[in-house]
Amino acid sequence: MASAPRMAGAGVSPVAAALTAEFSSDVVIGLSHTGQKELPSKYLYDEVGSALFDVICLLPEYGLSRAGMRLLQRDSHEIVSLLPTPVLVAELGSGSGQKTRLLLQALSKRQRVNYYPIDISGSALSRCQQEIGQMDRVSIVGFESAYLEGLQEVAARRQEGERILVLFLGSTIGNFDRPAGDQFLREVRKILSEGDALLLATDLVKPIEQLLLAYDDPAGVTAAFNMNLLARVNRELGADFDLRQFEHVARYDECERRVEMHLRSKAWQRVTIQTANQRFYLREGETIWTESSHKYNPAEVVEMGERTGFRCERQWFDAEWPFAQNLFFAV
Ligand code: TRP
Repeated sequence: MASAPRMAGAGVSPVAAALTAEFSSDVVIGLSHTGQKELPSKYLYDEVGSALFDVICLLPEYGLSRAGMRLLQRDSHEIVSLLPTPVLVAELGSGSGQKTRLLLQALSKRQRVNYYPIDISGSALSRCQQEIGQMDRVSIVGFESAYLEGLQEVAARRQEGERILVLFLGSTIGNFDRPAGDQFLREVRKILSEGDALLLATDLVKPIEQLLLAYDDPAGVTAAFNMNLLARVNRELGADFDLRQFEHVARYDECERRVEMHLRSKAWQRVTIQTANQRFYLREGETIWTESSHKYNPAEVVEMGERTGFRCERQWFDAEWPFAQNLFFAV
């Protein structure tokens, strides 16, 4: 049996109803743009989207996550040797916890570790709890909240003489526009104190063909991941997007040095969003922009830190897939 859309007020919890209302208004705002239509990328990660993203990370074309993993495998001990003691660990976006485990392992040889993953997704947090929960000398407390709010709460738990290490792995910074990325780092810096550390992962500029394959793999997993956003709008907001009338598009903007992900309408079409009681029209060839992924030069990352209140202590590079882990200290 097909399930009815989850509608606000229709026998769901107040929290779920509020989330649906927010989702609905974000979708309506993004589709109402007179120029480029948009849908916020944070909605890519429902249960289906998160599972598809896990598959993306296994694709040979998507080297990002393996590069990040290799670096932590190789360099965790060196990273830890550069950190102040004692240090508590806050992670922005818990991810699967796999990479973090490597770092926590190295750190826990030196001290007992309090680890605080921060994620808006409760299911991401519980997966992370499973991966990390059994580690010796590591205790974990998850915060189900937005990054900066969570970080503020973690900072409030800092003990006398203790430093903070913030982890921002996976090159999530690249999903911000450059000015917004700067702004975000400034906000992080404001919550920190001088001498606190930030380990920031950044995907680097590489040949266009390689980037386009990473974001448009021939097996179509990335296309399915992107398309699932429309399917989610259908499921949760009672919309009638005809997915077969859309195609996934990845473009590289050389000036901005970013991959842009879009969903392109193959025909003139009308879409109705039931819960919002709204209608939208798409021209043939018109796109809905779902995410951007910015790519950096190593020197640019150092400058980004300097502009936002940090000093870059060291950078580590992967030999196979241009990618960097950057260790910053708050100044
Ligand atoms: N944060 C990931 C990245 O920028 C997300 C991602 C990978 C993504 N593939 C995608 C987002 C395709 C939208 C469409 O690499």
